[in-house]
Amino acid sequence: MDQPVPGQPASVAELTAILRQGGYLADRGLATALYVALSLQRPVLLEGEVGVGKTEAAKVLAAAFGRRLIRLQCYEGIDTSQALYEWDYARQMLYVRALSERQITEDDAVDKVFGPRFLLERPLLEAVRAGDQAVLLIDEVDRADDEFEAFLLEVLSDFQISIPEIGTVRAASPPLVILTSNRTRELHDALKRRCLYHWIGYPPAAREVEIVLVRAPGVPERLAQSVVRAVSRLRELDLAKPPGVAETIDWARTLDFLGAAELGPQAAADTLGAVVKERDDLELVQENLEEITSGG
Ligand SMILES: Nc1ncnc2c1ncn2[C@@H]1O[C@H](COP(=O)(O)OP(=O)(O)OP(=O)(O)O)[C@@H](O)[C@H]1O
Ligand SMILES: [Mg+2]
Repeated sequence: MDQPVPGQPASVAELTAILRQGGYLADRGLATALYVALSLQRPVLLEGEVGVGKTEAAKVLAAAFGRRLIRLQCYEGIDTSQALYEWDYARQMLYVRALSERQITEDDAVDKVFGPRFLLERPLLEAVRAGDQAVLLIDEVDRADDEFEAFLLEVLSDFQISIPEIGTVRAASPPLVILTSNRTRELHDALKRRCLYHWIGYPPAAREVEIVLVRAPGVPERLAQSVVRAVSRLRELDLAKPPGVAETIDWARTLDFLGAAELGPQAAADTLGAVVKERDDLELVQENLEEITSGG
């Protein structure tokens, strides 16, 4: 990746070019959303199919602007302590044990136990502290539960976190926040209202070919084209797990590695594991291989 560009892009076109240099091809809609998010310091929510570049957008942005990428991976049951901060109990215990009777009765001994030394930063606190030196990626927010979403909303409203024992930590200038969701459930209106919203769909064929060529340099263009054509047919079938852009890249790479110049039914059958990852899907695809790989 090239040298990071500090500061703000001056236009959507400039941001598009910067992302491209980082190996990420954003269409006009996505680039505009990211540009506005950067310029007006608004969080942006990226929703879309699986494997269409939601997470990658945040990674490339951070790298391109020399910002730290701080990632909060959401999952079922995630709670505030895993997102904000925790106390390092083990070290607190050791510290307390090491204190003598006399020290314990001293005024600030107990305060020290709950002081910055024993505080473990988790992503949200880290991001509030880093401010605009960071990109905060709140990944797969749809996996977290309602309460956690409400709590996130609070943090995103004022970028300040109060730690009773220490005080309030405030971001001088907020980090760029990118939330992603696969839409396994509907997010709350309140959270959406706080964010700019952008839906990332599958890219049009020409762009997907370009993405393959950028991400897997060395893959011949003709092979990339035939893979993209086949993948777009796969997406039209009623598959449980339709292939994302990541699978397109993988498939092209796999075929190229095996020396295929083009995608025929045999080459496809041999390499389906790169692109179809469900047993039922596999059967459906195998029945339609001729059609999926045909040239027209
Ligand atoms: N527009 C793009 N430009 C360049 N590479 C892309 C683009 N879209 C997707 N990719 C490639 O696809 C891969 C998968 O993207 P990513 O992991 O960001 O998908 P995602 O939308 O977060 O998927 P998931 O829903 O599974 O988390 C990336 O590593 C990248 O190589
Ligand atoms: Mg992702």
